[in-house]
Amino acid sequence: MINDLFSETWKELKCGIEDSGHPFKVCALASLEESGKIKQRMLRLRKITHNDTFLFYTDARSFKVQQLKLNPYGSVIFYHPLLQLQVSICGKVVVHEQDEIYEDHKLEIEGRSVQDYNTKSPPGKKIKNPIDVTRTRELHFSVIELIPEQIDYLKLRAEPNRLRATFTKTEEGWDKTFLVP
Ligand SMILES: Cc1cc2nc3c(=O)[nH]c(=O)nc-3n(C[C@H](O)[C@H](O)[C@H](O)COP(=O)(O)O)c2cc1C
Repeated sequence: MINDLFSETWKELKCGIEDSGHPFKVCALASLEESGKIKQRMLRLRKITHNDTFLFYTDARSFKVQQLKLNPYGSVIFYHPLLQLQVSICGKVVVHEQDEIYEDHKLEIEGRSVQDYNTKSPPGKKIKNPIDVTRTRELHFSVIELIPEQIDYLKLRAEPNRLRATFTKTEEGWDKTFLVP
């Protein structure tokens, strides 16, 4: 049965990429600020790679990129309200800039969503007026890759059937166990 939960987790995560309107299309990413405080923000899940890592797109100058370069560790959380399924994933983060993954995904955004990466000033800079945003031809794009080390599964169903499990990546594969909910 634990294998069913594991399969369900990956199935729903993949649906987040493939099915429009699927609640796993977006998640909250938590990272550690230099001050030691935690910061969270929503991100769209863009791809699950052949190595079962998760890719996200962002502006290379964003605060999250600065934070993730200093503390290359993050946690994302998804919730599916109909299934009442929470999936939380933590692991190491790699920020891709000017490498093969970056080049492949830069092609995806060119001509479509360049507006998200071409402001003259970096995202998060204070401005007096919201229309004071100048764009340039320069793309400040980067790909965030989350390499999962642990995946937590929680399905909220009427007691006593609440289901909680954790999957931990090991050298041999995934170690899977139920937990007390
Ligand atoms: C539904 C939703 C999806 C979002 N998707 C992304 C995304 O894919 N990439 C991104 O950089 N920001 C995305 N954002 C904006 C981020 O939540 C955040 O406000 C922004 O990236 C700045 O974060 P930072 O200052 O921590 O770097 C999204 C926001 C929402 C509400």
